[in-house]
Amino acid sequence: MASADLLEGSDRGFTFNEADFRQVQRLIYEHAGIKLSDAKQDMVYSRMIRRLRHNGLTTFKSYLDLIQKDKQEWEAFVNSLTTNLTSYFREPYHFPILQQFLQERAGRRMRIWCSAASTGEEPYSIAITVIEALGVRATDVDIIATDIDTSVLAKAGSGVYTADRIESLTDAQKQYFFRGTGKNAGMVKVKPEVQRLVKFQQLNLLDKAWPVNGCFDIMFCRNVLIYFDKDTQRNILNRFHPMLADDGLLFVGHSESLLHMNDKFRLRGKTVYDKR
Ligand SMILES: C[S@@+](CC[C@H](N)C(=O)[O-])C[C@H]1O[C@@H](n2cnc3c(N)ncnc32)[C@H](O)[C@@H]1O
Repeated sequence: MASADLLEGSDRGFTFNEADFRQVQRLIYEHAGIKLSDAKQDMVYSRMIRRLRHNGLTTFKSYLDLIQKDKQEWEAFVNSLTTNLTSYFREPYHFPILQQFLQERAGRRMRIWCSAASTGEEPYSIAITVIEALGVRATDVDIIATDIDTSVLAKAGSGVYTADRIESLTDAQKQYFFRGTGKNAGMVKVKPEVQRLVKFQQLNLLDKAWPVNGCFDIMFCRNVLIYFDKDTQRNILNRFHPMLADDGLLFVGHSESLLHMNDKFRLRGKTVYDKR
């Protein structure tokens, strides 16, 4: 860190020193695997300040003491440090591959795990693709969507979004899969037939036991591995391997590569892998 003084600025109104930042870095790394670089100090300060205000505290030290004792505040602390950027049909080149995979296996029961689901746009994009690929047989597919962050899961479960979030979808997709909410102009809600395919559940990829069982035909783990160091990535991917069906596919994010795991996974397309 350049200087502890940078953090301690009294103009900020709250005492935040290097030791506080180091403790936040350590806690979130040990719990969630998230590596916060030193460049993230302003981000940490601005996100955590809301939690201090909420709790009527003026020093980070007192806040860091609080989260050791208060389970609910611990959860809010973790939630405040995740990055939840996502969108409908993000990395769109994955969805035709998914569609073809589903169509080739129509009539078979299938399971999909979306393991960093954030606010729900990704698992609902998967559900829409399932319906487009399989029509009435869509109910043959179970989608489990998990994330460490309980606040994004609550939003995902509601299925309510501002209308601009679905701007990139076709008119037919907007019409078939969403409806206006009635009360709030400019808001849309995912239709029940899409929502019904997806089950949301909290899951920390770092936990020793996961509350999901294999085997999955499709696994999405996009744009979360980048927050982890190589050892953590390797650990998680080693655990994914036996949970993926022999003919299944694993989708990762655009900047994530499994080259260091090429004894286990083989590249099949742009950031799409299957099992060796
Ligand atoms: C940048 S978002 C990616 C969302 C989506 N997969 C996509 O690509 O659009 C990363 C998500 O990973 C979640 N996350 C971070 N650490 C996690 C962990 N240890 N276990 C499970 N989810 C985690 C965050 O809460 C966040 O919602």
